[in-house]
Amino acid sequence: MTTTRFLTGITTSGTPHLGNYVGSIRPAVRASRTPGVESFYFLADYHALIKIDEPARIQRSTLEIAASWLAAGLDPERVTFYRQSDVPEIPELTWFLTCVTGKGVLNRAHAYKASVDKNTAAGVDPDSDVTAGLFMYPVLMGADILMFNAHKVPVGRDQIQHIEMARDMASSFNHRYGAHFVPPEAVIEETVATLPGLDGRKMSKSYDNTIPLFASREQLKKLIAGIVTDSRAPGEPKETEGSALFQIYQAFATAEETAALREAYAKGIAWGDAKQILLDRIDEEISPMRSRYQHLIDHPEEVEALLLAGAKKARAIATPFMATLRHAVGLRPLTAGPTQAKTKAAKSSTASFKQYREKDGKFYFKLADAKGAVLLQSRGLDSPQQAGKSIQLLQQQGEAALRDLQDQLEPIEDQPALAAALASICATQNI
Ligand code: TRP
Repeated sequence: MTTTRFLTGITTSGTPHLGNYVGSIRPAVRASRTPGVESFYFLADYHALIKIDEPARIQRSTLEIAASWLAAGLDPERVTFYRQSDVPEIPELTWFLTCVTGKGVLNRAHAYKASVDKNTAAGVDPDSDVTAGLFMYPVLMGADILMFNAHKVPVGRDQIQHIEMARDMASSFNHRYGAHFVPPEAVIEETVATLPGLDGRKMSKSYDNTIPLFASREQLKKLIAGIVTDSRAPGEPKETEGSALFQIYQAFATAEETAALREAYAKGIAWGDAKQILLDRIDEEISPMRSRYQHLIDHPEEVEALLLAGAKKARAIATPFMATLRHAVGLRPLTAGPTQAKTKAAKSSTASFKQYREKDGKFYFKLADAKGAVLLQSRGLDSPQQAGKSIQLLQQQGEAALRDLQDQLEPIEDQPALAAALASICATQNI
């Protein structure tokens, strides 16, 4: 069974609100508990630098977002939870991808285009106040995703174009240097409605209509009191359609609870009473997390340690993969050139794959060096095609393919020797 790898980033530019919780944190925490799913969640603090030039705010937001995800039940043992800037391979990969991305493609990115259009409309220079960081935003995001060969990327609709660009970067790179990257797919949560804010528009920082996820109960009460309603008096039947209060309630309540409130609306519940019901319902879900959140905010050293442990896990993948990629593009020791690998003598001294069938009727493959020492041994597979496909993957992707094939393989004994052999096979393949 192969696992599906999910990855998503959260820009560290604000304080999480109920909309973030319902739309992203809660579904992600639930998804991370699904068997067969491997999750990567990270704090996109390099991305935050594009929008924010207040160091204290970046730092504070990083703490608040990390604490929110942890308090909401994200288990850092189970998932890989890290801070983007703790993985230096990401900016390195960003450069590799920059070199295979058309400038014209980036010209068409929505966020950059919106700034240019605004400037043009205002009659100023089209690139006025546009940083190269904003322009390069999609490449950094592509590196986030491709670094870990994520299959699925849960994002909001506004991010779909970025995922498509990451797919293009993957295929441009693969075309030039061999199949190193998996093309990622966007996952849009269709079932999660966007939460309305206090004024009825989408809950968003830019509308200043948010309810912070970890507001105290008193603050929560005050904010809920400010949710827009119509002027119907107690006893008058009320519409659920278009009622922000009702929609927010629905995001937290069970189907039965929602039906009960719908009935109460029809019977003319007073707005004050409906607001009390909403307050109690949200508080019921959030209050058990509040003390954990507060604890983490008061102990940043604990969050820091968790993030560093997460970065270590992430780099256990990123560091060897980046070594393979460096080799693939030609940033390699002068002694490991393709000309050498191409010559007959050199070739016969490299490792090679063998495919065979055992008495158990199963199909096997192995990689042995020139002296016959086994570097990699497969388990019994059901078909020769399966063995052939795995060999091909190893030839094309080198060490990067090991992760996806781990269920087919016996434990690896000499990882450095295997890595070197695969790197040289991969280099010969990709000339
Ligand atoms: N751009 C994303 C957003 O604003 C955040 C992000 C950065 C991201 N890198 C990512 C999301 C990689 C998914 C995958 O929402």
